[in-house]
Amino acid sequence: MDLFEYQAKELYLKHGVPTTPGSVTDTPEGAREIAERIGKPVMVKAQVQVGGRGKAGGVKYAATPQEAYEHAKNIIGLDIKGHVVKRLLIAEAADIAEEYYFSFLLDRSVGGFIAIVSSAGGMEIEEVAHTTPEKVAKVPIDYNAGVDVAKGRELAAAGGLPEAILDKAAVTIAKLWEVFVKEDATLVEVNPLARTPDDQILALDGKVTLDGNAEFRHPGHAEFAALVEQDPLEAKAKANDLNYVKLDGQVGVIGNGAGLVMSTLDVVAYAGEGHNGVKPANFLDIGGGASASVMAAGLDVILGDQQVTSVFVNVFGGITACDAVANGIVGALDTLGDAATKPIVVRLDGNNVELGRQILAERAHPLVTEVATMDEAADKAAELAAGE
Ligand SMILES: Nc1ncnc2c1ncn2[C@@H]1O[C@H](COP(=O)(O)OP(=O)(O)OP(=O)(O)O)[C@@H](O)[C@H]1O
Ligand SMILES: [Mg+2]
Repeated sequence: MDLFEYQAKELYLKHGVPTTPGSVTDTPEGAREIAERIGKPVMVKAQVQVGGRGKAGGVKYAATPQEAYEHAKNIIGLDIKGHVVKRLLIAEAADIAEEYYFSFLLDRSVGGFIAIVSSAGGMEIEEVAHTTPEKVAKVPIDYNAGVDVAKGRELAAAGGLPEAILDKAAVTIAKLWEVFVKEDATLVEVNPLARTPDDQILALDGKVTLDGNAEFRHPGHAEFAALVEQDPLEAKAKANDLNYVKLDGQVGVIGNGAGLVMSTLDVVAYAGEGHNGVKPANFLDIGGGASASVMAAGLDVILGDQQVTSVFVNVFGGITACDAVANGIVGALDTLGDAATKPIVVRLDGNNVELGRQILAERAHPLVTEVATMDEAADKAAELAAGE
């Protein structure tokens, strides 16, 4: 789960990472009130989960509460790379002498945690990483040893932070590690990590991704989830305990068991090459012991995806018998009635396959095509998705 900046900063505060005070609002009047309360110049900051807010005009300096009001009026409703701004963080503006970059993250390519540190932080960090990669230090972190102040100092030095600020930065870095570990995050990023003229270190921006697998031990994180913009289809899948990931192709895919679904994605992508380049629209695993109602819930999620133009149901009956799957498909289509308009290709095999096929044949739904093998079924689904 990705957090908004203001939520990330709540976690920073909880663990003693210094930042500037602020509050969230969704109106220009609210922005003015918060600025009055702070009583100093503020930054008006769009709360959207996409990078480059500053460059898109979503981060503005306001010297007075009235200016905060004006900026808020312009920023609310602004479209930043497809994300419409609904909320703003009004945060006290800091004096900035220098801007650094710091993050801890799970790096799957090295199979471990790393820290990324640079003395050249701020809005241009992507550019810096691209043109002068030597200015960006990537340091592997031994999870068991962790990051204390001494290690924090080492990391700050590796990123080229000035000698005079190393001790202060080290303390903040150790606290950021505490956020990373105690909150079960997979990313904790601060850009900019600012140095003030009087040598304070402040986290002026925050990006945190929490590990959903650890949700059960953080009841406090539930309130973040309520405010995070979730894709409605993903929310529906989650409510039904379905393992669903949206992709951007056209062929909806449902299968039982993660391995089967993964290989189904491959055969669909391969078949799609012969049909106008269509691709899988999602990953959806209905699990091992899936019942008819789970099948119906899965179909409901996939048919709700505007981009889907055909569906491929690929089931190998084991614990889930094929007749239950067939009943699920028929039941879902009957429930959806006229709302079901997309062709569905079904490949059944394994436990009770004959009975499953019989159920589909008897119902003879005009949208359903039964195909015997996985490759042929993938080809048919791709062909239908391409509208051929
Ligand atoms: N509280 C603050 N006080 C002073 N300056 C700030 C403050 N917050 C942000 N800024 C300035 O605005 C710039 C952009 O802010 P921020 O890093 O939050 O947004 P961004 O980098 O554009 O967004 P993203 O991190 O989503 O790409 C910062 O680099 C910093 O110079
Ligand atoms: Mg930033």
